[in-house]
Parts: sequence; structure tokens; C-alpha cells
Amino acid sequence: MLLLCIESSCDETAAAVVKDGRSLMSNIVASQVDVHARYGGVVPELASRKHVEAISVVIKEALDAAGVAVSDLEGIGVTRGPGLVGALLVGLSTAKALAWARKIPLAAVHHMEGHILAPFLEQELEFPFLALAVSGGHTHLYRVEGIGRYRTLGQTRDDAAGEAYDKVAKLLGLGYPGGALIDRLAGQGNPQAIPFPRPMLHKPGFEFSFSGIKTAVWRYLQEQDGPLSNDHLADLAASFQAAVVDVLTAKTLAAAEAGGLERIVVAGGVACNSGLRERFKALAAERSLAVHFPAPSLCGDNAAMLGVPADFYLAAGVCAKWDVNAIASWPLDQALQI
Ligand code: KG4
Ligand code: ZN
Repeated sequence: MLLLCIESSCDETAAAVVKDGRSLMSNIVASQVDVHARYGGVVPELASRKHVEAISVVIKEALDAAGVAVSDLEGIGVTRGPGLVGALLVGLSTAKALAWARKIPLAAVHHMEGHILAPFLEQELEFPFLALAVSGGHTHLYRVEGIGRYRTLGQTRDDAAGEAYDKVAKLLGLGYPGGALIDRLAGQGNPQAIPFPRPMLHKPGFEFSFSGIKTAVWRYLQEQDGPLSNDHLADLAASFQAAVVDVLTAKTLAAAEAGGLERIVVAGGVACNSGLRERFKALAAERSLAVHFPAPSLCGDNAAMLGVPADFYLAAGVCAKWDVNAIASWPLDQALQI
């Protein structure tokens, strides 16, 4: 099926054209980062307004880039949740209107379902696999038996990994969003310089906790006399990143081993992180595990990733009803549509 997909759950307005749930024909992402940066985080009301301004333009760009007319479309895929309700509603209402006007079916999918299935846009993967979803709002381990068949094995008790990156970047005065900025700085520093804690590392189970690392960074900064030199800042970034990467990789490997899973997908914005990618690559080689990362353009929020589940559901005849509503908080286990 030829699908238009629309994503507006947070601060990116995105549209993509995807054929048969595998072939990416266009992928347009309009970021609102500049709008929110001056507030140090996403302002929900501003996000909704910016989505309203951008959505028609982004959809037109996606259709033009794919060389597709609205009349060629056979279905629409859209993020239903989780996310900011006002922001989600912009994408969902637009998707409903288009699907109603063209009399084509609508699939209203889970945002994280898109993230963890994004690798299918680049290669076929076998089920089951373990998914580590790491973004600004999620740090979750899922057992994935198939599309629509997910079980949460563990999640963060407090901050998500991306949220910890953003908060630490704020403490360091680096700006928002901070993940990529810390990642870049970390490349120039010594990861062993400062022994930040590795919360939950030796506890059984697959839960995470990142607020303690953030507090440890805050305390460390309080103990310093004046601002850090550039080298010191790089050491701090590298040491923080090493602590986050240690915990994420150790828990993921433990979950894979406990579940007898040999394939791992790492997805979400934090999957762009160079330290995380390198460490997983090394561990995969050591243990003959297959670890898949989507291309960086498919790790952050985008609409193309929705094409994989949307095509699957529509092909199975599972369509959203016209009264489908946006949903702010939505565990992936409950997103089962078939
Ligand atoms: O998936 P995403 O684009 O949006 C959400 O659904 O949350 O993830 C955004 C998060 C932000 O917290 C951002 O700082 C983080 O991903 N991020 C990174 C990197 N690039 C983006 N974190 C660490 N290293 C990176 N290179
Ligand atoms: Zn996301």
C-alpha cells in the first residue's frame, strides 16, 4: 500500500510517504527546536501552534519529494500517542480529515512502535527480538514477538535517558536539546575522569534510574570553584556518557540473555549516541549478538517509522475509527491492535 504517515507527538512536525511498509519514498521533518530552546525545553502550547502552522507544508513537501499525488494514496498512518495531547491532535485531526476526504483507511499507531520497527525500513529482521527504546520520554526494554506483540520487560523509574542528557546539558549551560551536544563533547574527554554512579547496575531485574546520575553531576559542579575549563567540561561529558552507556548496555545484555534473544534493536533519539553505538558494536562482536541501530535520520522523531506498523495493520484490516482520540500516556503492551 502507498501510505502517507504523519507524526506530531512532541516538537517535530513530520510527514513521510512509505510503500508497502518497507520502502521509504520521502521523509520530511520540520523541527521546532529553535522555538523551544530559549525556554530550555518543550512548551506544549507553543508546540501545538507550531504544528498547526507547519503540518500542511510538511505534508505537501513529503508528497512532492515522493512524486505522489493525494489521489494516489491508499491509506494514512498517524501517531495516536503517547505524547503531548495538543500536539498529537494536530497530526491526528489532519490524518482523519485526509483519510475521510479521500475515503481511505487510517491506522493510528503507537509512537514507540514506530521507533522500534524503524530498522525494517532498511533491512528485514527476524522476530523475536529485544528492543531498547531510548528517547526523551522513554527508556524501555521490550520483548518483541511480532508487529503488535510487545511485552515490557523493564523501564526507567524516573528520568528517561534522553531527559537525563537534556537536564545535564542544561546544568552545563550547553543549551537544548542537549544529547547531541554532550555526545560531541564526550568524544574529546576522558570517560574515566569522574566516577559517576551507575544506578541499578547490580540490582536484579531490568529497571533503570537516571535521576541519580544527574544529581551526581549537579553535586560535582557545586564542589568546583568557578566555571569548568573546556577540557574539564569534556571530561565531565565523557564520564557522564560512560555511566549512562554502562547501565544501558549491561541491562540490555542481561535482558537478552534472560530471554534467550540473539537480536537487539536500539531505537529512539538516544540511539544516535556515538558512545552507545560503539559499545554495542563491540559487545555484539564479542558475544555474537546481532545489534541493529536505525540510520541516525530514522532514530529521532520522524513519520517514516510509522509506515511499518501502519502498513501491517491496514493490510490486516485493522483500521482506526473516526472517533479515535489522541492518548497522552499509553503503555506499548496495551497498544495491541490484533
Ligand atoms: O526520539 P526523540 O527524537 O524524541 C522523543 O520521542 O523523545 O528523542 C529525543 C531525545 C532528546 O532527549 C535528545 O537529547 C536525545 O534524544 N538525543 C541524544 C542524541 N541525539 C538525540 N542523546 C544522546 N546522544 C545523542 N547523540
Ligand atoms: Zn520519539
